[in-house]
Amino acid sequence: MSAKTVVIEARDVSLRVGEKKILERINLEIRRNEIFGIMGPAGSGKTSFLKLVNHTFRAAGMALEGALYVLGEDVLGEDVNPTPLRRKVSMVFATPVVLPMSIFENLVYGLKIQGIRDKHTLREAAERGLKAAILWEEVRDRLHKPAQKLSGGQQQRLCIARAMALSPEILLLDEPTSGLDPISTFRIEEALKELKRHHAIVLVSNNTKQIARVSDRCAFFLMGELIETGKTAQVFTVPKEKKTDDYIAGRFG
Ligand SMILES: Nc1ncnc2c1ncn2[C@@H]1O[C@H](COP(=O)(O)OP(=O)(O)O)[C@@H](O)[C@H]1O
Ligand SMILES: [Mg+2]
Repeated sequence: MSAKTVVIEARDVSLRVGEKKILERINLEIRRNEIFGIMGPAGSGKTSFLKLVNHTFRAAGMALEGALYVLGEDVLGEDVNPTPLRRKVSMVFATPVVLPMSIFENLVYGLKIQGIRDKHTLREAAERGLKAAILWEEVRDRLHKPAQKLSGGQQQRLCIARAMALSPEILLLDEPTSGLDPISTFRIEEALKELKRHHAIVLVSNNTKQIARVSDRCAFFLMGELIETGKTAQVFTVPKEKKTDDYIAGRFG
């Protein structure tokens, strides 16, 4: 895959559950080697969009329209096999989900589920993940200690490391620093800037300053609608829409 390849393309994606419209004709493109920010107040459909991308949105009475291409495949199709997709697309959530086992076992958990047992392969993947999440130096001497002893910020970087150990092409992050202090937040933002050299990163945040700091291009979601998308520098300096201007100025949300 060359640089600037489009890896996620939404064409008129709408999602409704029962009578409730969750996403309304979303059109956007996300490319490799960029951090694509998605911002918007709570309830805007940001998480729902990510869950469509990694094929985990499930609800009774849901209706989908449009096309959502992830690495070339329309994931809204009925006959999509989600297993290969989930290997290429990893998601990290707001609250770190650290399993009650060692740091090392957390890192290789997903690989073991895939049936990989070779010690050398597992060790290499764990190290690669930790380096990608800029956590290696901090934990290399205690890989077999319980992961739950790590600080909150380290636990979140461990979740990123675990996602990266699976060598995904796309990393989705849903408000990954919402519970973290500024230093931990800074470390994660630095890790993301490194990761975009080889991956596509989608960063959902309701912190507009974070979107401005780290994303290359971004989108503003409001009540299920995509109000505006473009280069981050442009969206934050000369937004096309008044609603975007109001949101980034903190006038609502
Ligand atoms: N599984 C579901 N079934 C019904 N409604 C849902 C479901 N998931 C989310 N919603 C609704 O969709 C809207 C958007 O939610 P969400 O995508 O979580 O927004 P955000 O991440 O921007 O806060 C909310 O009104 C939420 O209640
Ligand atoms: Mg959300």
